[in-house]
Amino acid sequence: MRTLLIAGNWKLNPTTVEAASALAEGVKNGLGAATDVHVAIAPPFVFLTQIDGVLSGSPIGLSGQDMYWENSGAFTGEISGPMLVDVGCTHVILGHSERRHGQGETNAQVNAKLKAALGVKLIPIVCIGETKDERLAEQTEAVLLEQLSGSLAGLSPEEMAGVVLAYEPVWAIGTGLTASPEQAQAAHAYIRGWLTQVFGEATAARVVVQYGGSVKPDNAIELLSCPDIDGALVGGAALKAADFLAIIKAGQ
Ligand code: G3H
Repeated sequence: MRTLLIAGNWKLNPTTVEAASALAEGVKNGLGAATDVHVAIAPPFVFLTQIDGVLSGSPIGLSGQDMYWENSGAFTGEISGPMLVDVGCTHVILGHSERRHGQGETNAQVNAKLKAALGVKLIPIVCIGETKDERLAEQTEAVLLEQLSGSLAGLSPEEMAGVVLAYEPVWAIGTGLTASPEQAQAAHAYIRGWLTQVFGEATAARVVVQYGGSVKPDNAIELLSCPDIDGALVGGAALKAADFLAIIKAGQ
């Protein structure tokens, strides 16, 4: 019923347009034309136009790593939804923990960005997840509840069905510490339960919920075979075409 989405978040990498194009080319050529899973890559903003050209004719989606909630105006340094659409984006990552914890982004801001993204028909990938201290204090579900209800406030069931969620335990991001399939599935089941309660069973069954946090070729199969895990948001392993392709293969 749900098609898996494997997305590569390149974060602040690579540092040249040449290297970015080569990476995109490697993914495109390795993937070919048809795939059972949806695939997207999120390069840095400044490379989007170039990468859109590289991806021409391929089924790979192009994603921004963030966006602002206003479409235009006096907002120095910001990038808007219409700009992302204009350079070929299909997706946008919102509320990544590196923005929530590094830049102090709030649930209310993520919510405003989400509504702006839906307004220009970008597929939003909304990230949520607890820190190590929160998990140790057994606050994982409380944190997820606060992030889900704040970030997704005011959406209709139909809008919600078009949003992708990414459960990314902060302690597993870039650390090599992956949540066990049991830990990840438990969090995903909690998220699915919350979606059912708020938006109804039919909508909850349609929402794609990715796992993110040190997903690698050697742990992808067991994570992706969990019933409520519908794909992966991949950081470090998305920077090598072969590793990213192996993760995509694990989802097929
Ligand atoms: O957006 C991706 C996540 O932050 C995961 O990053 O695979 O390097 O742990 P990672």
